[in-house]
Amino acid sequence: MKGIVLAGGKGTRLYPMTKVISKHLLPIYDKPLIYYPLSVLMLASIRDILIISTPEDIPLYKRLLGDGSNLGIKLSYKTQDQPRGIADAFIVGEDFIGDSKVCLILGDNVFYGQDLTKILNNAKTIDDGAVIFGYPVKDASSFGVVEFDENRKVISIEEKPERPKSNYAVPGLYFYDNKVVEIAKNVKPSVRGEIEITSVNNEYLRKGKLNVVLLGRGMAWLDTGTPEGMLKAAEFIEAIQSRQGFYIACLEEIAWRRGFINDQQLKEIGKSLCMTDYGKYILSLLNE
Ligand code: G1P
Repeated sequence: MKGIVLAGGKGTRLYPMTKVISKHLLPIYDKPLIYYPLSVLMLASIRDILIISTPEDIPLYKRLLGDGSNLGIKLSYKTQDQPRGIADAFIVGEDFIGDSKVCLILGDNVFYGQDLTKILNNAKTIDDGAVIFGYPVKDASSFGVVEFDENRKVISIEEKPERPKSNYAVPGLYFYDNKVVEIAKNVKPSVRGEIEITSVNNEYLRKGKLNVVLLGRGMAWLDTGTPEGMLKAAEFIEAIQSRQGFYIACLEEIAWRRGFINDQQLKEIGKSLCMTDYGKYILSLLNE
């Protein structure tokens, strides 16, 4: 399975912070936002990953992450000139996807939870159809929202409904079979002029091929779309890290634990960052 991180868009809701830099490069506590979604793909053991962003920002991502070889993964980059919608990632990424299955994660989505790896690995086994998630939130109106019938069967996904029919929002993490490319190409733009991921999901639903996995209270899905959301996410990450001593979204640690890189490679990265707590943490892993 291949992975895509969609890190495009103008980030207008975060101006002036994002006037000259992509929001996914801004920090959430001690690391750039994009580390968090990237860590999710790595936890799913997805090693062939495409990052989609604007022409101005791609050089910055390349400077930050390179070709991924120091993490034992393969990173490719593709530009999206205009934010045409989330489903456009499958059109921009068509050559990259080839005949593989694909997992898409939005560059501003932060996940944390005990069962995350298990949930990802289950979703990854999908051969035919799609797996998406439903996550309870207080106000679902700014998300894709799952509608259930009286037997809790999913009957539709609505994009940003004024009156949400449930409190289950659809997070920006989606697993698809290879048909997603053709489906995305046939999606008609919505009123806001975007080809919506929700339309793709509804097409899978129409075919009887949409699996919606409901996440419970043991999972954190955090919003980073506003300054307040970014601050709350940073506080959450800081609280967990300083309490437990485990880092969230430390890409080097995941690469090492997954066997993508060896002790020596981890040590070299740790040494190059040893002036920071992040680097000290990496080095400390070798003494476990
Ligand atoms: C997008 C999707 C929405 C989803 C959300 C998750 O919203 O359109 O269905 O629930 O991401 O972050 P947007 O970022 O376009 O507001």
